[in-house]
Amino acid sequence: MSTQEIEQLRERALRELAEATSQEALADWHARYLGRRGEVTQRLRQLGSLAPEERPAVGRALNELKQRLESAYEDRERQVRESELAERIAAETVDVTLPGRRPAIGTLHPVTQMIREVTDIFAHLGFQVVEGPEVEYGYYAFDALNIPPEHPARDVWDTIFIESEHKEIVLRPHTSPMQIRVMERRQPPVRVVVPGRCYRYEAVDATHEWHFHQIEGLAVDERITMADLKGTLAEFARQLFGRERRVRFRCDFFPFVEPGVDFAIDCMFCRGEGCRVCGGSGWIEILGAGMVHPQVLRNVGYDPERYTGWAFGMGVERLVMLKYGVPDIRYFYQGDLRFLAQFDRIPL
Ligand code: PHE
Repeated sequence: MSTQEIEQLRERALRELAEATSQEALADWHARYLGRRGEVTQRLRQLGSLAPEERPAVGRALNELKQRLESAYEDRERQVRESELAERIAAETVDVTLPGRRPAIGTLHPVTQMIREVTDIFAHLGFQVVEGPEVEYGYYAFDALNIPPEHPARDVWDTIFIESEHKEIVLRPHTSPMQIRVMERRQPPVRVVVPGRCYRYEAVDATHEWHFHQIEGLAVDERITMADLKGTLAEFARQLFGRERRVRFRCDFFPFVEPGVDFAIDCMFCRGEGCRVCGGSGWIEILGAGMVHPQVLRNVGYDPERYTGWAFGMGVERLVMLKYGVPDIRYFYQGDLRFLAQFDRIPL
């Protein structure tokens, strides 16, 4: 084995080493030259078969070659490891400066928002918020409210009836039955507001839905007067629709109040001038109310000589329509996000 051969072996090994660009190729290279059956290892093993005078020089040259290759291998291995790591880091980089994707979180339904807004106003005026059943006995929906069977006023509430053999059962057409339920359970003073879903057998159009929401109010105590009703409703209307609102009471009829009124505010779109929203009248009716009928007080065991009170009831969808100029009540229950997402003042 000549020094020239060893020189050629060195050059070939170093060239191939420089060409190895992965850990795998490096391991392969190491096995071929420096492994147990590698070319350098095998040549070292063959030293014994050389002539004694050749051995020292060839032996030294081979050992030098072995050391040279081992250290070249280590250098190259470190280079490859570092560049593989750099490649991985570049490939797996997360760009923390990219703007995030905002998840859609939705909003409360406009009816829910309005119920919260209205009940909040009354809570601050000293009213308690209570709720009651949507499936109701005819007694609470009508009879106890001074609407006996066969009374023509019963037709005013186009009621959806539920089959029953013994007792009349209905889907409540208004929240007024809760007046009775509340008074049956407690003694005056009573001050409650009752938000809830109502149902009517109704042809659906831009201002009528077969189900909708009302908020009932009831205040009963000694010496409660119509002046309290007017003051309370005026304060409510001004908190909801603006401090500058003017208010109006007019006679109306409901069997469970006497006298009965409708309560209106001056139109906030034209300020009373007359426009499309108020139908040219300058006034917008927002609820029905009145002094609780003495017969209703008697029906729950209250003494009408001692106690007086008033009640009111308003449609929640109508309030939203008035406040935000929604032209059609059907939008509320179509589940169309283009409509619902506009009421995003209060996030979930
Ligand atoms: N319950 C009546 C309705 O649904 C509203 C109302 C409530 C009127 C309380 C007077 C007093 O139309």
